[in-house]
Amino acid sequence: MFNKRTKIKQLLQGEQTGHEVTVMGWVRTFRNNQFIALNDGSTNNNLQVVVELGLIDDTILKRITTGASIKVDGIVVASVGKGQTIEVKAKNLEILGDSDAEKYPLQPKKHSLEFLREKAHLRFRTNTFGSVFRIRHSLAFAIHKFFNDKGFVYLHTPIITSSDAEGAGEMFRVTTLPIDGTAQKNEDGSINFKEDFFGKSTNLTVSGQLEGELGAMAFSEIYTFGPTFRAENSNTTRHLAEFWMIEPEMAFFDIEDNMNLAEEFIKYLIQYAMDNNRDDIEFLSQRLAEEEKQLPQDKRSELGLVEKLEFVLNNAFERITYTDAINILLESNHYKKKKFTYDVKWGIDLQSEHERYLVEKHFKKPVIVTGYPAAIKAFYMRMNDDGKTVAAMDILAPGIGEIVGGSQREERLEKLEARMKDMHIPAEEMSWYLDTRRFGTVPHAGFGLGFERMVQFVTGMTNIRDVIAFARTPKNCEF
Ligand code: 4AD
Ligand code: MG
Repeated sequence: MFNKRTKIKQLLQGEQTGHEVTVMGWVRTFRNNQFIALNDGSTNNNLQVVVELGLIDDTILKRITTGASIKVDGIVVASVGKGQTIEVKAKNLEILGDSDAEKYPLQPKKHSLEFLREKAHLRFRTNTFGSVFRIRHSLAFAIHKFFNDKGFVYLHTPIITSSDAEGAGEMFRVTTLPIDGTAQKNEDGSINFKEDFFGKSTNLTVSGQLEGELGAMAFSEIYTFGPTFRAENSNTTRHLAEFWMIEPEMAFFDIEDNMNLAEEFIKYLIQYAMDNNRDDIEFLSQRLAEEEKQLPQDKRSELGLVEKLEFVLNNAFERITYTDAINILLESNHYKKKKFTYDVKWGIDLQSEHERYLVEKHFKKPVIVTGYPAAIKAFYMRMNDDGKTVAAMDILAPGIGEIVGGSQREERLEKLEARMKDMHIPAEEMSWYLDTRRFGTVPHAGFGLGFERMVQFVTGMTNIRDVIAFARTPKNCEF
C-alpha cells in the first residue's frame, strides 16, 4: 500500500516523539544540504525533515529541489530548531517527482498575486493560496452543515435553462447550431431555434432561484449551491463571469425572517472558519497587514482581519431602508464636496461607491438595505403597500459591497402577472413558475449569497480572482 503516510498537519499537532512515520509532500526549500521544509497542503506549517550527512547519495541530494515531490521514512524527534516542536529525522528518502529548480516558477521568495494568477495551476502550493483554498473548502462544508442542521433540502437546479431569472439579459448562450452563419433563419431573419439542440433558445443559468421557489413550495425550505454564469462585461475586483452562489428559499418567510436568516448564516460561516481555520486566518491576517503597509495611512483598514471578523460576529448588522440610505448619502460631506462620481437621488441603483460609503465610512459594519424602488429590481419581488418600493434586501459588507441580494417574493398571482406584463416578461413561457401562485401560493422569501464574495470577506483577499481556483473574467479563460 502506498498511502500509508501521516499528514503533516496531524504530525505537527502531536508532541509524541520516538516513533517511525512516513511523510510525503513537496519540497519548499532545502538548506545546507540538510534541512528540508516539506509541505503536503494539509497546513501552511512545513515539516522540517533532517537529512544527516552521509545518509543519502549525492545524486539524490541534488534532486531535492524546490517543487520536487518526495517520500520520507524517518523518526519523529524533538526539534532543537526554532519554530517547530518536532521534526523528522530521515532514514530513507525517495524522490517521487523531480522539479527543475531553474524552470520551476515558484521560487522560494515572495511573488506578486498578479504573477501567481498567471501560474494559477501551481499557486495552490504557496502559503497564501493554501490558506485561501482550505478556507474556501471549509466554508463550502459549513454551508451544507448550516442548512442540513436546519432541515433544508439541497436542491440541484439546472445549469442550462431557457429562462432569464434576473431579467437582466446577461447570459451566455448554449447552442449546438453552427456559428458560421449557416444556421437556419426564420422569415424575419432571426435564428430558428427550433432547429437547436433543445428546440428553443437556451442559456447558462444566472440564478437557481426560480426553480428553487418550486422546491420551496413543496419542501418548505430548500437551498441551492452551485455555479452561476453572468456575461456582464465588468472587469472589477468583485465580478466573475462564473461564480458560485448559495440560494436558500423559504416558504412561510417574510422579509424580516429572510434578513434574520441571512445574518445568522453569514455569522455562522465566519464563526465556522474562525473555529476550524484559525491558523490560515491568522496567516492571511498577517499577509494583509503587510500588504496594507504599502498603502497610504487613510487607505488602510482600521481593523486587522481577525478583529474585523470578530467585530462582525459580535455586532448586529445595521438595517435601513433604501430611502434612509439615499438620505444619508445626500446629507454626507462626501456628497456635498462632490466626491461621488455618480449622482445621488431617490430612484438610482446604488453604485458601489455609495454602498462602500454607507458601510465603510458611515456605519462601519455590515448593512442590510430594504425597500428598493420597484423599477430597479427584478420582477419577482413583492410590491410594498406604497406601490413603488419592493420587499428587497441587499446586504452590504465592508470592503466588498453587495454580498447578498434577496427579497420576499410576490406571491399574489394578479400582482405578479401585472408586474411581468409591465416588464415585458412573456407569461406563456413562465406558466410553470406562475403555477406555484395558482396552486397553494404562500408568502415566501429567499436570497443569494455570492460564495466568492463571502470567501473574500473571510480571507481578506482584495481581488475575487484570488479566491476561485480558475477565474473566468472578460477576455480570460485560462486553464
Ligand atoms: O443580487 P443577485 O443578482 O441576486 C440573485 O441572483 C437572486 N436570484 C438571489 C436570490 O434571491 N435567490 O446575486 C446574488 C449575489 C450578489 O449579492 C453577489 O454577492 C453575487 O451573487 N454576485 C456575484 N458574484 C461574483 N460575480 C458576479 N458577477 C456576481 N453577480 C452577483
Ligand atoms: Mg443584486
